[in-house]
Amino acid sequence: MHLIAIDDDFDAWRAAALDALAQGLAPESVDWRTSQVEPALFDEAAPSAKVAEAPQIRVSRELASLLKDAAHFRDARRWSFLYRVLWRWSRGDRAVASPADEDGARLYKMAKAVRRAQHDMIAYVRFRQRDASLGAPEYVAWYEPDHDVLAWGAEHFAARMGRSTWLIATPDGAAMFDGARLKLERRRALASEHAVDTPDAAEALWMTYYRSIFNPARLNESALEQHMPVRFWKGLPEGALIPKLVSDARGGARRVAQAKSVGALGGKAVQVEADEAQPERDAPTSLDTCRRCDLWRNATQAVRGAGPADARIMLLGEQPGDQEDLKGEPFVGPAGQLLDDAMRQAGVPREQVYLTNAVKHFKWEPRGKRRLHKTPAQQEVEACSYWLEQELHDIGARVIVTLGATALAALFGRRATLSAHVGRVVPYRDKLVVATYHPSYALRQNDEAARDRTVAAIVEALEKARELIGK
Ligand code: URA
Repeated sequence: MHLIAIDDDFDAWRAAALDALAQGLAPESVDWRTSQVEPALFDEAAPSAKVAEAPQIRVSRELASLLKDAAHFRDARRWSFLYRVLWRWSRGDRAVASPADEDGARLYKMAKAVRRAQHDMIAYVRFRQRDASLGAPEYVAWYEPDHDVLAWGAEHFAARMGRSTWLIATPDGAAMFDGARLKLERRRALASEHAVDTPDAAEALWMTYYRSIFNPARLNESALEQHMPVRFWKGLPEGALIPKLVSDARGGARRVAQAKSVGALGGKAVQVEADEAQPERDAPTSLDTCRRCDLWRNATQAVRGAGPADARIMLLGEQPGDQEDLKGEPFVGPAGQLLDDAMRQAGVPREQVYLTNAVKHFKWEPRGKRRLHKTPAQQEVEACSYWLEQELHDIGARVIVTLGATALAALFGRRATLSAHVGRVVPYRDKLVVATYHPSYALRQNDEAARDRTVAAIVEALEKARELIGK
């Protein structure tokens, strides 16, 4: 039996697998072990001599992507399984890449589960905003992915959350973004003797996270002890914090414990350089980093308009909702479904219109676990008109259908009332505006007949827009 010890990541496995193939090691003769000490995910993989000597196996693009995704599947036996797949392929057995094959089916299933975990991570990570006086990270999130997708998810958020600073902690590690750079740390094995004695960067991240979520007002000591038995506290990085946090809470501390403790964490917080942290109030270069108002702070991402640049109809909504905020696309939630229906009825294909919102960030307030829509203030609408102006310029739409009062006010100001404009066609610069209700208004109506009338008015406005562009 050949023992191959690798770091627990795809690149390390690939290098060792190519080497094993070059030596002709059959899968059943190899015992794959992962080393205890895991590298930081973004460390440069040191090119080993073995890789240079190893033969290049040509795999199909499909198989390469399956192997890469399946490598993040949580199963200690995955490296030996992936080697069997590669071995069979290298022997000319192409069936291994087919879902009809037993190994192929398992490979597809693993890759699919990982892709789902990636999707879930984007959909379900919830950042909490920390008290601004605490400095970076401004947002923290705790997430337990089904598979090892932290690095993937972190890159996604780094690309979408502008320059805000954040930390995502998971049971296996943490990702921290300082507004410019992403850093990932694996959490070291809890059993490691060093875990308590030599705090490292990963533990510092972990403690920052733990302090930030610890809320004495909601402390339930027995639940805490059940969840993390006292005898384990010593071995856990956050264990050292618990007695102090609990006693603060018992003492009736009203403020969340983070307010005291994070401030004392000398030198551990990520420093964001002053010019990087400077809000782009006046001339933002990109919507993703827009700071013209404060709505970006609580939104997952800015939601830009979508549709062809040569669309002749523009639909203007109010602001992204909960689902739009998570997906980064306009009108994909319940209001979007109602709108899709209305567009079908009016013979206006969604692919031919440009959909956007007066405000590009989701404004909400917490209600239990839910994020409840909050109407944007006119100041926020005006701040965001910078982006709407660009869309009006770039998208040569002849007709704009405004959905609801906020969209109407975004073009004509606060005094333009919806009741006075519904169903009317009004000139706006070189365009025509058709004002109608917002689909959410229809969704909120309990009375079926009233709801039907609202939907009919939306359909009518869309039909009018279609006629105005001569279709
Ligand atoms: N409501 C809007 O106004 N816009 C969206 O994108 C979704 C819901």
